[in-house]
Amino acid sequence: MNETWTYPAMSHPSADPAVNAVAARLVGLATADPSRARVLELGCGSGHHLLPLAARWPEAEFEGVDRDGAAVELARGLAAEGGLANARFHEGGFEDGGPAEGGEFDFIIAHGVFSWVPDEAKLALLRRIAERLGPRGVAVVSFNVAAGWRRRLPLVEKARAIQAAGGDGVELMRALEILRDVCESDDERLIVDDMRAKGAAVLAHDDFAPVNDPFSLKDFVALAAHHGLRWLGEGVPADNRAEGGAVVDGAAFAGDPVGMHEALDEAGDRTFRSALLCRADAEVAGRVPASAVADCFLSAGPAADGRDAALAGELAAAAPGDAHAGELIQRHGPAMATRIVKALYDGTAAARTHAADVRRAVPEAPRMDGLRLACARRGLPVVDARHRPCEFPRAHLELLAMMDGSRRLDGLSAIARERCPELAFGAWMRHLAQRGFFL
Ligand SMILES: C[S@@+](CC[C@H](N)C(=O)[O-])C[C@H]1O[C@@H](n2cnc3c(N)ncnc32)[C@H](O)[C@@H]1O
Repeated sequence: MNETWTYPAMSHPSADPAVNAVAARLVGLATADPSRARVLELGCGSGHHLLPLAARWPEAEFEGVDRDGAAVELARGLAAEGGLANARFHEGGFEDGGPAEGGEFDFIIAHGVFSWVPDEAKLALLRRIAERLGPRGVAVVSFNVAAGWRRRLPLVEKARAIQAAGGDGVELMRALEILRDVCESDDERLIVDDMRAKGAAVLAHDDFAPVNDPFSLKDFVALAAHHGLRWLGEGVPADNRAEGGAVVDGAAFAGDPVGMHEALDEAGDRTFRSALLCRADAEVAGRVPASAVADCFLSAGPAADGRDAALAGELAAAAPGDAHAGELIQRHGPAMATRIVKALYDGTAAARTHAADVRRAVPEAPRMDGLRLACARRGLPVVDARHRPCEFPRAHLELLAMMDGSRRLDGLSAIARERCPELAFGAWMRHLAQRGFFL
């Protein structure tokens, strides 16, 4: 059975320049202000990552490159419908030299590309980044990590064998169901459950992609260094934490952060990284004062419990908006700056250069921006103010597509009652407002 899947339109919060700029600044690279930056995405697909950034920052410039002509056409169509003249898309391979427009970029994004393309394309990708990154520029490159894939790849092979065993082929999700039943351990079952949760469309471009080359951090960092690029850590500060509570003897890795992170990857079976790179000749300050975080905006981070409970409480009180780090430092004194830095790395807090544009109240005549309307009309995920892609059932998307400011809440509510009676309309609208859907 020949299953073909178009890569699903997605945005990736871990590759949002508002987030990556803070991660880079924390290790001493004075990045450009992303709201006025030049941003390049290599392997941009249908532009679902780049376009919401272009809508958020009209003074910044965005270029996307992809060799898939249909995806580039869709990206151009969405840009035109969304009224985004600051986003341009180019059809072409990294091997061919990248975007026609010359010049250097402040941010370069390559998400979901490196591990999933042949070796020549991997090298061309790093060459393009090294050529096009400005002196204070930062790139974010995601890849699959060898440590976690060592146990995963044999299961991919078993699922492929199950698929091939049925004369006419077995559909992938069915093959995973069968594989789960014959797993030899709970660990294997957990991996298969994780695969099933990804869904067929993502699996086709990740676990079951024609190319899936997991890399160890050491090999990735060495290859990047060979191209004149320096590894700065993860694109999100909290993602530098070990997975699964893994610990290693830090003293054994004095002066070898890559070795330490690699040992943690092995101990925690890590499967994925989203690495920050800068030019090897970039000026990276040796020691960064904690007060460097004073400019950023904070929200609750990925560690649900929050190690710094008092700070977690302040961030919860500011939700759905962000708390300004400088104001917290002023209120609590300079020691708060150190607490914030710790909180960013332990996952209590997440930081961005600009506050997420969310609302507390639902507008009387709800209006989404042109890009969100274009996505809703085409049945694509709609991206929220924190760059998370949100998928909706068809009928809900049709309702969203009506939110162009021409209808009042009571009218929309009547349509919702008729067309999607299961929807708790008032609560849904409050949720959308808090996620920044409305102008
Ligand atoms: C898995 S998709 C990722 C899309 C998007 N960056 C994301 O993360 O949602 C990989 C993209 O890279 C593009 N691609 C693969 N090899 C390429 C090459 N050599 N040159 C340009 N684009 C390439 C594919 O066409 C595809 O759109």
